[in-house]
Amino acid sequence: MTALLEVRDIEKAFGGVQAVRGVSFDVHEGEILGVIGPNGSGKSTLFNCILGQLLPGKGQVRVDGRDVTGLRPSQLNRLGVSRTFQLLQVFPQLTARENLILAGQEHRGSRLSRLFGARDAGLGTEADRMLAFFRLTALSGEKAGSLSYGQQKLLDAAMAFMAGSRLVLLDEPAGGVNPTMLGDLRERLEAVNRETRATFVVIEHNMEFVMALCSRLIVLAEGRIIAQGTPEQVRNDPVVIEAYLGH
Ligand SMILES: Nc1ncnc2c1ncn2[C@@H]1O[C@H](COP(=O)(O)OP(=O)(O)O)[C@@H](O)[C@H]1O
Ligand SMILES: [Mg+2]
Repeated sequence: MTALLEVRDIEKAFGGVQAVRGVSFDVHEGEILGVIGPNGSGKSTLFNCILGQLLPGKGQVRVDGRDVTGLRPSQLNRLGVSRTFQLLQVFPQLTARENLILAGQEHRGSRLSRLFGARDAGLGTEADRMLAFFRLTALSGEKAGSLSYGQQKLLDAAMAFMAGSRLVLLDEPAGGVNPTMLGDLRERLEAVNRETRATFVVIEHNMEFVMALCSRLIVLAEGRIIAQGTPEQVRNDPVVIEAYLGH
């Protein structure tokens, strides 16, 4: 079986800083893969290379066996690949529902959507479905900027799933979310994974969260994969413990 996402020997340097040094892994349909590692280990750079924000210096990214290395984010969106960023991407002046519709338009490739604002564009039903999935229906008409930080993170994640995304890369979805909302967020992501069969790759610092959510983890340190396996295997791997303690 071909993996949904194949990452092969990706390298990326910024001047003298070798941020990613030959990273390879596969992600299978329906899987939730976690990416962990100390600050500065290259996690976000790796995502940027996969999603077309950065061109890798070397290596290849394949989706459904097709080489997509160097495609622009908008081209990847049209193939059903999307992401969230470490920092919130919601528009505070738009309502929760409008934010979802706008995200859906962007994924479909209506590149002028940001200029013309969020019209329904046939995406209203899907926006409502996503609001329900993430238990945000009651906040549908509220401006995103008036939601709590945790609710905005939920909305931000929901936006990545609009317009038929089937491979979603999440960069620290739990970052800054309070402990009571964390359980909610995890449960919602699990529900989306179960019901839409969407595949996730999740960067996360919160170990408890990522170990509960993911079936498999890869561990980066200094731009390389130093360990991988089930949460249980990774938790007990002396190489991983050393990478965190030695940092
Ligand atoms: N745009 C950039 N320009 C220069 N250096 C960068 C840039 N982005 C990341 N880096 C460097 O690359 C390394 C990996 O960073 P990053 O991918 O953000 O790590 P992580 O997400 O694991 O914290 C760090 O040393 C960081 O300073
Ligand atoms: Mg990062």
